[in-house]
This record gives sequence, structure tokens and C-alpha cells, in this order.
Amino acid sequence: MNIGSKIALVTGASSGIGEATAQRLALAGYKVYGTSRRVAKASQRSFELLPLDVTSDESVAAAVGEVVRRNGRIDLLVNNAGFSVAPAGAEESSTGQARSIFDTNFFGIVRMTRAVVPHMRQQGSGRIINIGSVLGFLPAPYMALYSATKHAVEGYSESLDHELRTRGIRVSVIEPAYTKTQFDANFLEPDSKLDEYREIRASLRKTFTEVMAAAPMIQASWPTSCSRLPARRARSSDTRPVSARAAFADLRLQA
Ligand SMILES: NC(=O)c1ccc[n+]([C@@H]2O[C@H](COP(=O)([O-])OP(=O)(O)OC[C@H]3O[C@@H](n4cnc5c(N)ncnc54)[C@H](OP(=O)(O)O)[C@@H]3O)[C@@H](O)[C@H]2O)c1
Repeated sequence: MNIGSKIALVTGASSGIGEATAQRLALAGYKVYGTSRRVAKASQRSFELLPLDVTSDESVAAAVGEVVRRNGRIDLLVNNAGFSVAPAGAEESSTGQARSIFDTNFFGIVRMTRAVVPHMRQQGSGRIINIGSVLGFLPAPYMALYSATKHAVEGYSESLDHELRTRGIRVSVIEPAYTKTQFDANFLEPDSKLDEYREIRASLRKTFTEVMAAAPMIQASWPTSCSRLPARRARSSDTRPVSARAAFADLRLQA
């Protein structure tokens, strides 16, 4: 059992923001468990990857159970796993597709929180950081479902912080803007495409690719101590929310 360092669990740590976060936490001295739906045997990473699909109750229970079995505690949970259906007219996604994006981006966080909080409550301490988005407080035409999931993450996180702070647990939501990762390469196409939106989809896809290519790279340079993160929403200054507002205003104008 590991009793030396603090224990962190980071979902969606196979790439992008999750991977950089896990690396940074490892550098800061945390014993870090990252997660991915596809865990390769040989890994060059500074942290261990555990298999996890946040859409499965069983998978969540197994991953959290494994970390607790090995270490007896979890000090920090970073809920990062997420994806977008984009660009897509809101009427171009079936209700099944709408459910599936909520299942990862929002209910994935709910599942992880329900699995981890009992351990943190027992410890009398813990920290949960949810990766939301600038679209958790701004509207985004042609990304309505994704934006809706991130608005849900914002409401859940802020409410949870008020609820759990009396038990020694603090909850933050980080709301990045464009950050150069695999995020846009992993966009899902809408499952009920309409010809009506073909041109605007093509034009927005081009704009997204250009904006993401020019976006700041994610670096393992986040704060070294989670206690330095504000307990409330952290609209990451690194990712420049003001430019994000401008960028999304541009997209809205084009639309
Ligand atoms: N990049 C941006 O501009 C930006 C801006 C605002 C917010 N965000 C948010 O930042 C977070 C990370 O995105 P990113 O930009 O780093 O994109 P990314 O490189 O595509 O990483 C997404 C991660 O989520 C994981 N994931 C997806 N579905 C999952 C599931 N069902 N269960 C477990 N893991 C799952 C993926 O892991 P596997 O595929 O290996 O399972 C991957 O590690 C997301 O929540 C995204 O909404 C990104």
C-alpha cells in the first residue's frame, strides 16, 4: 500500500489535456493513475494507465476499486474524459446520440464522483477537478449538445462544491477554450445529417481546423499544487477566455 504520496486519478489520460495533467501531477510528486479505454501494455508514461470507460458503472467501480485497493485512498480526482459531436446542427443528432454525449461528458463525471466521494468522505478530505469548457458558460451554435453537456458540468460542479466543502472535499471546474489536442480530430459526425446544413458544416469544420491549429499547446505546466487552484470555477487564463469569446463570436457570425 502506498502511504508516501498523494494519490491522483485522471480520466481520459491517453492524450491531450488529461495526459498533460497526469504528467504534471506526477512531476509534482503525486502517485498518478491515468485512465483510457485502450490501455497499451508497454507505456513510456510517467504514470500508470488503468482501463476505464466512464460510460460503464462496472468499469468505473473496477478502476476506482483498484486504486483504493492499492493505496487505501484517493486524494484527487480529475474528471477530464470527453468528446464533442461537431460541427452539427442540433436537429442532426438523434436523441440516442444526444444521450451518448451526455453519457460520457456529464454522466461519466456523475459516475466517477459517486464512486470516489465515499472514500474522500471517509478520509475527511479530497479534491475533485472537472474539466468543463468555455462552452459551459457561452452558447455555441452547431455544438449545441456539447455545450449543453458542459453547462451541466458547470452546474453540477459548483453545486457539489457547496455541498461537499463542509466534509473537507472541494470541487472545481476548469473551463478551457481552444487547446491544441486530438479533440477536433476526435469530433463525432452527427448521425442524422441533413442537406440543409451541409455547407455550414463544411465551412465550420474548416474554421475549427484552422483555429485548433493556431491554438495554444497543452503543456504539463498547470499549478504544482491543487491547493492553489481556486475552489470555484477556474476559467483558465492560460487558454485565454477573452480570445475564446472572440473566436466563438466569429463562429456565430459565420453561422
Ligand atoms: N481541446 C480543447 O480545445 C478543449 C476545450 C475545452 C474543453 N476541452 C475538454 O477537455 C477534455 C479533454 O479533451 P482533449 O482536448 O484533451 O481531447 P482528446 O485529446 O481527444 O482527449 C480525450 C480523452 O477522453 C477520453 N475519453 C473519451 N471518451 C471516454 C470514455 N467513454 N471513457 C473514458 N475515457 C474517454 C479519451 O481516452 P481514450 O480514447 O483513450 O479512452 C481521451 O484520453 C474534454 O472533456 C474536452 O471536452 C477541450
